[in-house]
Amino acid sequence: MATIGLIGSGNIGSTVARLAVAAGHDVVLSNSRGPETLTDLVDELGPRARAATAAEAAAAGDIVVVTVPLKAYRQVPVEPLRGKVVIDTNNYYPERDGHVAELDDESTTTSELLQAHLPQSRVVKAFNNIYVSHLGSLQRPAGHPERSVLAIAGDDEAAKQTVAGFLDSIGYDAYDVGPLSEGWRYQRDTAAYVQPYAVPGTGYPTWPGRRVTPEMLEDRLDAAVRYRDA
Ligand SMILES: NC(=O)c1ccc[n+]([C@@H]2O[C@H](COP(=O)([O-])OP(=O)(O)OC[C@H]3O[C@@H](n4cnc5c(N)ncnc54)[C@H](OP(=O)(O)O)[C@@H]3O)[C@@H](O)[C@H]2O)c1
Repeated sequence: MATIGLIGSGNIGSTVARLAVAAGHDVVLSNSRGPETLTDLVDELGPRARAATAAEAAAAGDIVVVTVPLKAYRQVPVEPLRGKVVIDTNNYYPERDGHVAELDDESTTTSELLQAHLPQSRVVKAFNNIYVSHLGSLQRPAGHPERSVLAIAGDDEAAKQTVAGFLDSIGYDAYDVGPLSEGWRYQRDTAAYVQPYAVPGTGYPTWPGRRVTPEMLEDRLDAAVRYRDA
């Protein structure tokens, strides 16, 4: 069992925290407003959860999930994340985040941007292409016939193994897309983004069945096109 630090405790942060606590991990939650604003969530999660500042959550986590609006990525604390495995859930929405020139010209990708901000950390891209309610409902135990796969990308093989182990513990298999530079294959508005995981009643088109297999995900990743070619 590990301690999972959460930088950001909104839709995705709170959902990852729920999954982690259900799997027996400890979680340290943080947001921009301060730990006192997370009391309700901590109470809901129980004794495995506590709230702290972002720097404290970063320091406490064996694995730290950065799940803030992308525009806030430069505020993610650098020093306490040195050497750590950092999961990046972020997506780039210019209307929300403002324009980032190197994302607009596709000379980098969102997770490479976070990796550049955290040069001593080991960033793995995960959770960005699944809608929050699907993430919180498609988890299944290992070997279950409806278990789904989630994409991961990163430049550090050991970090990807660590994240795959974490995903396994919370109810998902992992599919290794490759280095961070390949993370664009499941970025916003690609074929592998959100839609493959859509479940009935959520307003998204659905796959037959509820399970995303490695083959389905691979097809979607292969179909990805860069924004400039779309
Ligand atoms: N929603 C989805 O279904 C989904 C799915 C996959 C990926 N994503 C991506 O994941 C990221 C998070 O999405 P979300 O929907 O969870 O967002 P959200 O509900 O708006 O939550 C964002 C969280 O980040 C915190 N935060 C903002 N600035 C911060 C800072 N400087 N330091 C620490 N915490 C900070 C916020 O705290 P305060 O409330 O105190 O400001 C809040 O807890 C986004 O990049 C999003 O595009 C979202």
